[in-house]
Amino acid sequence: MSTAAVLEKIEALSKKQSGLPILGARKGKLLAEVVREAKPRHILEVGTLIGYSAILMAAELPPASRITCIELSADNAAKARRNFAEAGVADRIEVVVGSGKAVIPTLKGPFDFMFIDAAKEEYLDYLKAAEPKLAKNAIIVADNVGMFRKEVTPYLDHVKKGGGYTSETHDFGSDAVEVSRRK
Ligand SMILES: C[S@@+](CC[C@H](N)C(=O)[O-])C[C@H]1O[C@@H](n2cnc3c(N)ncnc32)[C@H](O)[C@@H]1O
Repeated sequence: MSTAAVLEKIEALSKKQSGLPILGARKGKLLAEVVREAKPRHILEVGTLIGYSAILMAAELPPASRITCIELSADNAAKARRNFAEAGVADRIEVVVGSGKAVIPTLKGPFDFMFIDAAKEEYLDYLKAAEPKLAKNAIIVADNVGMFRKEVTPYLDHVKKGGGYTSETHDFGSDAVEVSRRK
């Protein structure tokens, strides 16, 4: 199956299952554009679910680039791995099962791109844990900063006010996505 066909399959599944909170096509278009422009070598994703956002990013990556995914649920991680194989991107994506806060300190960087989409109140913990491994000019994309504004306030304060980033909020009406660049 093509990456597009697997993404469509997951979109259709999420329409049927309301508990499948994927990034979705509208916000996904922004993420794909940011990845395409940044041409990252190593992406860190926190919160993979069944692989939608990782497949979307893998489709935009230069040939030698790769993604390390962290997913708390072993069941979701197994489904994500199956979807990666189906989309033909399994060779460039590694999935680590565990919590973002526990796993990030064990990973080998550097990372020049990070996508954050796990526990909303832990966004700043993930970023702080990753900072020693983030390249200069690394790009960090955070989902749900509109829908979970209260939970992500410490994160937004950090990237917008003096944490060493330039940062922009992209408004999607019912939700928003934060795109930050490390200075
Ligand atoms: C919103 S979903 C991710 C959606 C995915 N990025 C996509 O667009 O397809 C959030 C995921 O984060 C996982 N998660 C929740 N807490 C986590 C944690 N502390 N560490 C890692 N993953 C976590 C959940 O199991 C869930 O699969």
